[in-house]
Amino acid sequence: MAQIITFAQQKGGAGKTTALAQLAQHWAAAGRSVELVDLDPQGSLARWAGMREDIGCRQSSDWKASSDIRSAAREADLVLVDCPGNADILLRATIRDSDLVIAPSQPSAMDIWALDPVVDMAAREKTPLRVLLTRVPPTGTAVEVAKGALKADLLASHIGNRVVFQQAFAQGKAASELQRRSKAAAEVTALAKEVEGVLAGL
Ligand SMILES: Nc1ncnc2c1ncn2[C@@H]1O[C@H](COP(=O)(O)OP(=O)(O)OP(=O)(O)O)[C@@H](O)[C@H]1O
Ligand SMILES: [Mg+2]
Repeated sequence: MAQIITFAQQKGGAGKTTALAQLAQHWAAAGRSVELVDLDPQGSLARWAGMREDIGCRQSSDWKASSDIRSAAREADLVLVDCPGNADILLRATIRDSDLVIAPSQPSAMDIWALDPVVDMAAREKTPLRVLLTRVPPTGTAVEVAKGALKADLLASHIGNRVVFQQAFAQGKAASELQRRSKAAAEVTALAKEVEGVLAGL
């Protein structure tokens, strides 16, 4: 049975889909079998995966979500689930089925405060959650400010605000496939390693 990671944060535009796609490609390239479930009716993750041969994606919603996640879990080592910004009942059930929740957030107090509902939901469902800071600016104190506002566990790795993540997504690729030795690629590698450590410790 696969390990299931759900990417959730009710604030839209937090960077969920972008971070998920980067990690999916990293693990697929490392030889893991990865299946995706896109619960967002916008379907951007499914569209990204549709441009690739190596990563399958189920587009799902509502009553189908739980059975689609379980069927993906029978096929793969890792299932990554993308949630829409405004999910609620669906999100609760998905979090219950997951081994880990990754909650991406931009490093501002307003975005960090918006994490409260998903942090509370994960706590009630007894699913471990880690916050991932994304779109982090190259300079300034944003990370420190975010840490001060945060109630939940934070991943030490974060994702910078980099155009290559946007360029890669549009082509169905990961940043490392466009720029192998870039800072973006190194960030994703470090993040993947840290998440593997979290999964191993569950
Ligand atoms: N690390 C990054 N660097 C630069 N741009 C980014 C980064 N992460 C996300 N973006 C851009 O920010 C926007 C929102 O990102 P994304 O769609 O991944 O967020 P989301 O949380 O999945 O949004 P939604 O709630 O609408 O599903 C997109 O235009 C994306 O290209
Ligand atoms: Mg999204």
